[in-house]
Amino acid sequence: MLFLQLPLLLALLPGADSKDGFQEPVSFHVMGILSFYNRSWEQNVGSGWLGELQTQGWNSSSGTIIYLWPWSRGNFSNEELTELETLFRTFFINFALTFHNRIIQWQLKYPFDIQVAGGCELHSGEASAGFMQVAYQGSEFLSFQNNSWLPSPKGGGRAKLVSSLFNLNKGFLEIVHRLLTDTCPRFHLGLLDAGKAHLQRRVRPEAWLSPGPSPGPGRLVLVCHASGFYPKPIWVTWMRGEREQQGTQRSDVVPHADGTWYLRVSLEVEAREAPGLSCRVRHSSLGDQDIVLYWGHRSSVGWIFLAVTVPLLLLAGLAFWARKRRTLCQPASSRLPLE
Ligand SMILES: *[C@@H]1O[C@H](CO)[C@@H](O)[C@H](O)[C@H]1NC(C)=O
Ligand SMILES: *[C@@H]1O[C@H](CO)[C@@H](O)[C@H](O)[C@H]1NC(C)=O
Ligand SMILES: *[C@@H]1O[C@H](CO)[C@@H](O)[C@H](O)[C@H]1NC(C)=O
Ligand SMILES: *[C@@H]1O[C@H](CO)[C@@H](O)[C@H](O)[C@H]1NC(C)=O
Repeated sequence: MLFLQLPLLLALLPGADSKDGFQEPVSFHVMGILSFYNRSWEQNVGSGWLGELQTQGWNSSSGTIIYLWPWSRGNFSNEELTELETLFRTFFINFALTFHNRIIQWQLKYPFDIQVAGGCELHSGEASAGFMQVAYQGSEFLSFQNNSWLPSPKGGGRAKLVSSLFNLNKGFLEIVHRLLTDTCPRFHLGLLDAGKAHLQRRVRPEAWLSPGPSPGPGRLVLVCHASGFYPKPIWVTWMRGEREQQGTQRSDVVPHADGTWYLRVSLEVEAREAPGLSCRVRHSSLGDQDIVLYWGHRSSVGWIFLAVTVPLLLLAGLAFWARKRRTLCQPASSRLPLE
């Protein structure tokens, strides 16, 4: 349930999209998910994200930050990071207590989820105002604007009650304001700098072709795969000669566990039209040397067929030849009982 809702929350966040061409991750944000199961039991999950790359996790049993990359500390000192850890720990505890204690007043029913996301963005290299949002059961609930909590219309009367309680606590408002306008931009810039080598690396895609599920008699689905590339922007298309083919289906660009990306582009054609079609892959790691793969006798399927049959034929030939040689070299007397 938690992970199904993550994309939903991400979709609420501005600035995490990568457009064509290289660009640095423009946002840093942290997410927390509190799952309330019953009066005495809740769980929390926390994470830190540089654009679409997770850079920190949260160990909820010890209440400490998990640094996923050697550069995940940015340029912050251990003292400042410990201070943040304490702040997040306190935040999780107080948030949980606040909700548990107002189950009746806010008409909540176990189980339910509260998600919190907050962070900051860069605009043309400059830090800009931060953002913080709270979702209830996966839908917009509150947002932090102009130094106070604003209920979302979708949150109804409950969001109004919660926001007015939060707005009474001036200390809380100040902490959130400082986190968003000072801590986050400093940390974000420091992280971009510390992780520069990793973030600006280029990893070449591997590309291959395969047939897709058969769409019907006489028709084929040709699938072109590009895998393991970084950064995310890539151009993959089916061509005939220099002409781009219409009607290609592009999958989402999905991440591998190592932070590289995978994409699949397919095209449905009449089987007789397949020869001569090629898949062209363009990516910043390749310079202007696009990868071009041809469907048909030069396709990967053809190569596998050849790779299997050629050695088999050779082996068979060799066995035949050896046998023939042996029988020819043996004297007639010893050959007779064998044959
Ligand atoms: C709360 O839920 C946990 C896990 O389902 C369970 O072990 C525990 O007994 C529950 N506590 C109460 C008070 O219902
Ligand atoms: C989380 O903290 C606990 C207790 O300190 C520790 O045993 C565990 O290994 C930690 N887990 C991770 C993933 O760091
Ligand atoms: C932000 O709050 C200040 C003081 O409460 C107010 O004067 C200003 O109009 C508000 N701005 C926006 C955009 O709501
Ligand atoms: C970290 O780097 C940022 C951006 O260069 C800078 O503003 C900040 O002062 C540095 N140090 C700390 C501890 O934030």
